[in-house]
Amino acid sequence: MVVGVDFGTSTTKVVWQDLSDNHFETFLWNPGILGISGLLLPSSVVIRNNAIHLAPAEDDTRGDDIRLSSIKMCVLCRSNPSICGCGNPIAKDGIIYIPGTAKGYPAGVVACLLLAYVFSQIEARLKRQFPEEDLGLIWNVGCPMDYLDEIDRKHEWETMVGAAMALRQKVANPASISLLAEVANCLDNFVVPTQEERNYSVQPEGLAAVKAFLESPHGESKTYAIVDVGAGTTEVSFFLNGRIMTELGQPLRPSYLADSTRPIGGGRIDAELANAWNCNVEDARRQKEAGELRFPPIQTLQTICKQYEHTCCEILRSRKLVAAHNKRFDLFIIGGSGRLPPLQQALCGHVLPGDFVRENWLQLQPPKALKDRLALQQIYDLLANACGLASSISWEYYPPRAVPPMAGLPTAKKPRPDVDEYYPK
Ligand SMILES: Nc1ncnc2c1ncn2[C@@H]1O[C@H](COP(=O)(O)OP(=O)(O)OP(=O)(O)O)[C@@H](O)[C@H]1O
Ligand SMILES: [Mg+2]
Repeated sequence: MVVGVDFGTSTTKVVWQDLSDNHFETFLWNPGILGISGLLLPSSVVIRNNAIHLAPAEDDTRGDDIRLSSIKMCVLCRSNPSICGCGNPIAKDGIIYIPGTAKGYPAGVVACLLLAYVFSQIEARLKRQFPEEDLGLIWNVGCPMDYLDEIDRKHEWETMVGAAMALRQKVANPASISLLAEVANCLDNFVVPTQEERNYSVQPEGLAAVKAFLESPHGESKTYAIVDVGAGTTEVSFFLNGRIMTELGQPLRPSYLADSTRPIGGGRIDAELANAWNCNVEDARRQKEAGELRFPPIQTLQTICKQYEHTCCEILRSRKLVAAHNKRFDLFIIGGSGRLPPLQQALCGHVLPGDFVRENWLQLQPPKALKDRLALQQIYDLLANACGLASSISWEYYPPRAVPPMAGLPTAKKPRPDVDEYYPK
């Protein structure tokens, strides 16, 4: 089985694929809860009575609780403190200061503990579900990185995921605070095995979205853009799904054109709305999700549109697409914050440089072999990444720089001046 773990800023979503018949299933965290909530595990912890409660429900709150939400953002914040904005009272610059302990722990320690719990729950459930089988699990965990990966985030996440795998049998829920020291020690000393020696890997979230596309029934030879706006990060991916004329049956194969990841999403929108509506962030989030119509101008929406534009500029800069018809593309908007109508309007109305023309805005379709496909269609925007991570399509991830210019036209040596203007080096 391939298990796709989308460790999101607000919630963790899991989809697995049974390789014996290639069907997909969503992992139900709480069979007692109907609807989407049962599929979303809060990516947060609560410190209560000297113990760490892993992934408690949002409404599971008591007087002296300290809730740490958006732990994923705290992990990112460690290497980029300028993005600090989780609102957690005991977190600063990616360090978590647990009351009563002498020193702070890097947020990766808490994230590792949470992931260990996630892995243990999935493994135990699948073993219960298939008691007769000798299950082989392949794990793919999403990571917010783009192809540049300038700060070696992939290695940081592989260490976190590897240590979580090693610790998964040891984690009880609630966990003792003293376990944090053991997790920190394991992280410090963990050596990531080679790809051949392990059954887990870390994949860029943008790539997960593209793989979700490849598993879906859309099959045109065309350029596509996927914009995934979550709670803490936004990923933009452009790719060309082109026919390989030299192969039998002229199969479709994607080529990555450009991608980007930025630490921006629903959390920042909530903070701006709270300011405009003069309420707290939680209320702002609730009103936003309920579709409050008095939507003020929001800087974050502009920033997301700029990211979309800059990612497109990267294709022009590297002259990946030359033929005009290849610059006509279809757009998918996924992720919870992608549901926001003002953001959808802003992205759809945003004019891109270099003759790029958005032809359609489409809804990403689940794979045909997803269990309960019709029921899940409406919420597939939240599950797409997990599904892409559970994909077994063996499309090698070539970074965009490895993809040669398309359409066989001679490439100009100098970038166009208007591109430099848009996206200075
Ligand atoms: N109907 C809605 N309208 C606007 N925003 C919504 C709606 N429903 C959910 N959201 C927002 O979507 C976000 C959660 O989306 P998602 O599950 O895609 O994020 P995530 O995967 O947890 O985070 P990330 O991918 O950034 O790490 C939250 O900020 C939430 O407020
Ligand atoms: Mg996400």
